[in-house]
Amino acid sequence: MTIERITSAQAAEDELALESTVRPRRLDEFAGQERVKENLAILIDAARQRSEPVDHILLYGPPGLGKTTLANIVASELGAQIRTTSGPAIERAGDLAAVLTSLDRGDVLFIDEVHRLSHAVEEILYPAMEDFVLDVVLGKGPGARTVRLQIEHVTVIGATTRVGSITGPLRDRFGATYRLDYYSTDDLEHILRRSAGILEIELAPEAAATVARRSRGTPRIANRLLKRVRDYAQVRGGEDGAVTAELADDALDLLEIDDRGLDAMDRQLLRAMAQHHAGGPVGLATMAATVSEPVETIEDVVEPYLMQIGLLARTSRGRQLTESGWRHLGLAPPEAVGIQPRAQQPGLFD
Ligand SMILES: Nc1ncnc2c1ncn2[C@@H]1O[C@H](COP(=O)(O)OP(=O)(O)OP(=O)(O)O)[C@@H](O)[C@H]1O
Ligand SMILES: [Mg+2]
Repeated sequence: MTIERITSAQAAEDELALESTVRPRRLDEFAGQERVKENLAILIDAARQRSEPVDHILLYGPPGLGKTTLANIVASELGAQIRTTSGPAIERAGDLAAVLTSLDRGDVLFIDEVHRLSHAVEEILYPAMEDFVLDVVLGKGPGARTVRLQIEHVTVIGATTRVGSITGPLRDRFGATYRLDYYSTDDLEHILRRSAGILEIELAPEAAATVARRSRGTPRIANRLLKRVRDYAQVRGGEDGAVTAELADDALDLLEIDDRGLDAMDRQLLRAMAQHHAGGPVGLATMAATVSEPVETIEDVVEPYLMQIGLLARTSRGRQLTESGWRHLGLAPPEAVGIQPRAQQPGLFD
């Protein structure tokens, strides 16, 4: 059985169109992540005042929280060109050299999925980030020699969903590293109201709150659900197509998204853990097999949110359902569940 995943990192084509329409272009349009924004603003202002390029920046966090958006915002706030590539797209060292030599001073090279760079490419990147030089090997065999090319002083912005997979030396070359967190319901409401304005959707305030609460703390999902509730309101609602709280609720119920924003796959995973593994601890590979998804999807997309809201916990022997996890499934937790859900920030996901 395959369940269409609504949190997939791979955005479908129409979603890419949606994302580019509603994507914030400036820092002041970017909701939430206040600390990251403030730090970035200082970084940008300081560099501007000194007429210097900005230090290299590493952005990490779960999919859909705004890493790509922020990279583009940094470039546009600097009035710089941005070139976008990704770890797996740079196959050979020469590919990276070609990109780097084509950039002007102050330009931004955005490397998405930076944890997936090959070893050979990373080796070229180190001196490029540190000293703005490229060591290019000319020729092969005994006659081969290395020449050192100077490149412009550029800013590398790396993004990743798994900061733990980045090698130490590469991580050290980013002067500024920021983690993006799941968004509060208030921030998501704000994002939804802005998107509704751009897409000309009449969204009642309580409807925005409903969608926000059920968006897994993730702007990408909030925008996606906004489109689905609009469809629903258009077909099932009043003539004006307005999205009321009731219509939003009904639409999300029909999509099998529950009151915490979990979808069918999340619940299937939690239920399998409860019913087949007595709540765990269960290894990641076993969990992935129970829902027929790659381990990476479980690790990067599914479990971080379940842990964030305290339904799942990481133990030294594997993942375990928490007491709240059992209760969310409507099941009584066994007495042995000693794991308490992680303390939550006030106002988050309540
Ligand atoms: N703070 C925000 N304010 C408003 N909209 C946002 C914000 N963050 C993200 N978005 C919206 O969510 C969409 C997804 O964000 P983005 O593509 O930047 O995520 P990402 O972290 O790069 O995800 P991935 O890891 O999958 O590449 C954007 O198109 C944008 O419309
Ligand atoms: Mg991205």
